[in-house]
Amino acid sequence: MNESTNQLLKPVTLKTNECGNLEIGGCDLAELVEKYGTPLYVIDEATLRNVCDDYKKAFSKYKNVNMMFASKSLCTMATSVILSQEGFGFDVVSAGEIYTVYKSGVDMKKVLFNGNNKSFDELSLALELGVGRISVDNFFELDLLNEIAKSHSKTVDILLRITPGIECHTHEYIQTGHLDSKFGFDLTQIDEAVELILNSYTNLKLHGLHAHIGSQIFETKVYHDEIEILVKEIARLDEKFGLKLDEINIGGGLGVKYTESDCPPSTFEIADVIVNSLTESIKKYGIEPPALFIEPGRSIISTCGVTLYTIGSSKQVPKGKKYVAVDGGMADNPRPSMYQAKYSAEIANCKKDESLQTVTIAGRFCESGDILIKDIELPNPQEGDILCVYNTGAYNYSMASNYNRVQKSQMVIVNNSKSDIIVNRETLDDLISHDVVPDRLK
Ligand code: LLP
Repeated sequence: MNESTNQLLKPVTLKTNECGNLEIGGCDLAELVEKYGTPLYVIDEATLRNVCDDYKKAFSKYKNVNMMFASKSLCTMATSVILSQEGFGFDVVSAGEIYTVYKSGVDMKKVLFNGNNKSFDELSLALELGVGRISVDNFFELDLLNEIAKSHSKTVDILLRITPGIECHTHEYIQTGHLDSKFGFDLTQIDEAVELILNSYTNLKLHGLHAHIGSQIFETKVYHDEIEILVKEIARLDEKFGLKLDEINIGGGLGVKYTESDCPPSTFEIADVIVNSLTESIKKYGIEPPALFIEPGRSIISTCGVTLYTIGSSKQVPKGKKYVAVDGGMADNPRPSMYQAKYSAEIANCKKDESLQTVTIAGRFCESGDILIKDIELPNPQEGDILCVYNTGAYNYSMASNYNRVQKSQMVIVNNSKSDIIVNRETLDDLISHDVVPDRLK
């Protein structure tokens, strides 16, 4: 089975150049730091295009596949443009994500709006901007969306988000498909939802079922089980209501390699399981082959990204750990403190013949829990060295905050020895630009 890009720890173009520095996309990382400062998110365009190719090849065996990038993993205009060029649609979850892809010139028919508590304003915006599908999560939303659709004199194309009752072995906070979940209709509630759509909600047109079973998944059988449940439900709804559903959206979730010990399945392996399971279930339950939608996020964008930091202070605790602090941390990458996520890193500038030390990489934020990497071996890390943390393309910038009133970091994209800014570093004025001091306080 071919290796795929989600199984790599580092971007495909990463190498050590003749100066002994790391480079990505032909750009020397030390030079990038000199030019742009740190912390700096770097996206490798070649890796991104490689991943997209992997996905397209892997799923080419099924004739009607629609790939929707899960924007929640990284939502910027430049990356949306690239993914759109690569033929991807988008799974969006907020007005902000809808607006970003819209302004990036994405074909809005290829956008699906997800979420367990979409607001009136967000649903209205989705209708105004022509979002292709809305995945309805609950009874409240069915009613709200039908009213909004009526007031726009539109029929809205929807999917029903269901909870298939599958538990994945991933972190509890990123499991979504198990029974007691805040997302989606329970299997026992589907008939009531369908009856309402068919009999009362005449401005809604149901096209299919949608589920998402979790994130950073390394198992393949869970996809087999998920697909079997979705197809079985489609067959059952046809028998009971004469309803021909022709779309099945299985969500995202494929894992990536954050550390050497992580072994995620390849995109090709997952695609085989998905396509074979779907073909099998179609036969078993006797339905027409539906259009298949997948929504990968992390496995598309994670490996493409690294974060560069400058090392500052160090502290050797007597008889304890050595802490090496960088100029970022939990505000630009909250994953270690939220999910105990593990990362790999290297010093990006040339370090010749230095002996390895085991150190703990601390962030600069005012919390003891702001530790980026525990116990990593690095060649004598010192003030001014550049730390390159791998696999930070997904759920880093998209989850970043301004904690401690620190500006969000800059993002550049590199390719063919060129670097371009795709997100500007926030300025101090940006930080106060939304503050208002009422006149009476002046
Ligand atoms: N579709 C739906 C409906 C989702 O809820 C998600 C992720 C995806 C697709 C994309 O999943 P992916 O392929 O990226 O695993 N912040 C967490 C991850 C939360 C994932 C939420 N839903 C983290 O940093 O690990």
